Amino acid sequence: MKLTWLGHATWLIEAAGGRAILDPFLDDNPAASMKAAQVEVDTILLSHGHFDHMADAAAIANRTGATVVANYEIATWIAKTAGVKNVVGMNLGGSTSVSIGTLKMVPAWHSSQLPDGTYGGAPAGFILTSEGKRIYFACDTALFSDMQLFTHGGLDVAVLPIGDFYTMGIDDSVLAAKLLGARMVLPTHHGTWPPITVDTDEWGAAIHRDTSSKAIVLKPGEAIEI
Ligand code: NI
Ligand code: MN
Repeated sequence: MKLTWLGHATWLIEAAGGRAILDPFLDDNPAASMKAAQVEVDTILLSHGHFDHMADAAAIANRTGATVVANYEIATWIAKTAGVKNVVGMNLGGSTSVSIGTLKMVPAWHSSQLPDGTYGGAPAGFILTSEGKRIYFACDTALFSDMQLFTHGGLDVAVLPIGDFYTMGIDDSVLAAKLLGARMVLPTHHGTWPPITVDTDEWGAAIHRDTSSKAIVLKPGEAIEI
């Protein structure tokens, strides 16, 4: 399995023979390592309706034919307003089989409104089970103690926001990592703009000091194999 950070909260996930992109925000993202037109995927995962998570979703879906997996409100909206043909509209607590493995949609503490002001349903995170591994993408969220429930079955990787202001910052992200006990933690949702630019060295040092996890800080375009 390979995880590539494309900048901001956008991840390319290659697993089980499939290729998925999480929260595609590339063309208007000053930190992106590629453009939306270069993305080749079969699945698009959307955590919530904010612009910085789905700006390029419809264009990629309509060009590649990829299936958009999101909550019911977003899946319905993108089909209706952008003519996306293949959509899966699920909801919190549910699981579904996708090209990269089994995906469970879990709660996130955030908000969600679609770009035209439409209600975007509940914001979400995802737990991917694939190739015998479990990966938790917290997506945009504050710290919440129910995260501990996601550790059932163990976690190989937790991808946590660290940028503060819109989501958890460094301190709460370290607390989250402590609750999760994943083998590896990767930061996301940081460095894109000044309000969410934080010191990743400070974060990595705190993870190593206060948790049993290994912190892996990628630059946009960099990947890890799990
Ligand atoms: Ni958001
Ligand atoms: Mn965001």
